[in-house]
Amino acid sequence: MKFKSQKLAYYFFAFAMLLLFLQITYGFIMGFARIGMEGLHEWIPFNVARATHTNLLVVWLLAGFMGAAYYIIPDETDRELEWPWLGYVQLISLVVVSVTAVIGFHFNWWEGRKFLEIPRELDYLVVVNVLAFIANIGVTLLKGKQRTTTAGILFFGLLAAALFYLPGMIHFDNQTTDSFFRWWVVHLWVEGVWELIMGGILSFLLIKLTGIDREVIEKWLYVIVGLTFLSGILGIGHHYYYIGTPNYWLAVGGFFSALEPLAFLGMAIFAVTMAKRGGRKHPNALALNWSIACALLSFVGAGLLGFAHTLPMWNKWTHGTLVTGMHGHLAFWGAYAALILAFITYALPQLTGRKLYNSKMASFAFWASNIGMCLMTVAFGIAGIIQVVLERRMGMDFLTVQTEIEPHFIGLLLAATLFASGILAYIYVFIKAGLPTDRLGEVYDE
Ligand code: HEM
Ligand code: HEM
Ligand SMILES: [Fe+2]
Repeated sequence: MKFKSQKLAYYFFAFAMLLLFLQITYGFIMGFARIGMEGLHEWIPFNVARATHTNLLVVWLLAGFMGAAYYIIPDETDRELEWPWLGYVQLISLVVVSVTAVIGFHFNWWEGRKFLEIPRELDYLVVVNVLAFIANIGVTLLKGKQRTTTAGILFFGLLAAALFYLPGMIHFDNQTTDSFFRWWVVHLWVEGVWELIMGGILSFLLIKLTGIDREVIEKWLYVIVGLTFLSGILGIGHHYYYIGTPNYWLAVGGFFSALEPLAFLGMAIFAVTMAKRGGRKHPNALALNWSIACALLSFVGAGLLGFAHTLPMWNKWTHGTLVTGMHGHLAFWGAYAALILAFITYALPQLTGRKLYNSKMASFAFWASNIGMCLMTVAFGIAGIIQVVLERRMGMDFLTVQTEIEPHFIGLLLAATLFASGILAYIYVFIKAGLPTDRLGEVYDE
């Protein structure tokens, strides 16, 4: 690493690893509950496990983004972070808010809005936390010796993500209005501003790992940002088909969301072309593998599997079934989880000063988690399609169908075991790398 303050990133990543582990634990609790093994039901009912699983996901991804930004912004602006101490305070407050929220869920202290379950009181703390983060990287960027497109787009994505948290905090008595604005957060995050964060981080990784000129890589970035805005903003309409909003959303949502895969296709072509053109000269080959996996699986999970249920005449049947779960898992995994894991794989040797990369264990982590997640997606997909056919097309009773699809959850659990073994290996490698150092300089060049 170039600057001492970049070390802060390490602690955000360590926190992200811990939450990822917990997220998977709750995934297993739900998976087992789905095949009738519900020993924990009294303490952790399915709805609590679900909210904990998805909120832990969001928080570890945010911690990952913040860590990545604390690493990238000093690197790109060529100066130390403005207030490193504030970064540590912010991390501690993030830990406090997350732990409180997760414990609260288990005592029914929450808002019953999917993905935004964190109680309002804690929301205010989140806002303060994020403001501190934005101020820190914002001032660093302003005072920086140079301003790059990569850093600018990353910053803009993070700032916009912070702003789009606010619509979710307005109180509505009307269910439709509440739902309408809930999507401003959930949809405009994952299919809007988070894509900018993804573009920024991927661009940084590709510049470092392929050695291709920044100008070439950043030109692509503009194309991706353009495609994201063109399709993603009005693409929000694919959540407005059947929630009580006017009919024109059927056309608007269908048309624009059908264009959304283009941005992810752009990202995939971008990563693969750059990797091919640059060759695999960089010693940390696994970091490039992770970056390519991120770009390709996000295209499959978000682009293709999102498209599979985005037109109103299809969504009418699949809405709210396990088809959504199929898409949700691979989209989140490909676009954002793999992105953070790619970044950590790149940055860890730099942060710790130890050349521990490309080990067999790290390679196993890569293949087992990615293949495991693809198989989990298949299991969710099969269960989802059967659910749609039996419940929605043939009109069978909801609970009868749930029993009917149980065997596919055994498949899910097997795939999840492979996936989790990969994640455990990843965490093992992370721990093995040890704590960050104050030694400056490019580890790979020595
Ligand atoms: C051991 C691994 C995992 C298992 C067994 C698992 C299992 C599950 C189950 C059973 C559900 C509830 C589905 C339902 O009945 O509605 C769920 C929801 C969800 N999980 Fe996982 N999961 C795992 C890992 C992950 C990971 C790594 C991610 C993200 C990258 C993830 C993202 C999600 C999301 C976004 C939802 C909500 C989907 C929706 O809104 O329909 N899960 N998971
Ligand atoms: C990385 C990007 C994406 C992520 C992380 C993601 C994740 C998710 C998640 C978690 C849900 C369930 C939300 C909920 O019910 O609260 C969802 C729903 C949905 N997504 Fe995505 N998605 C992404 C991109 C896309 C794209 C590009 C499309 C379309 C081409 C799409 C189409 C849909 C549709 C139609 C639904 C509604 C499903 C339903 O009616 O139950 N998604 N997505
Ligand atoms: Fe969406």
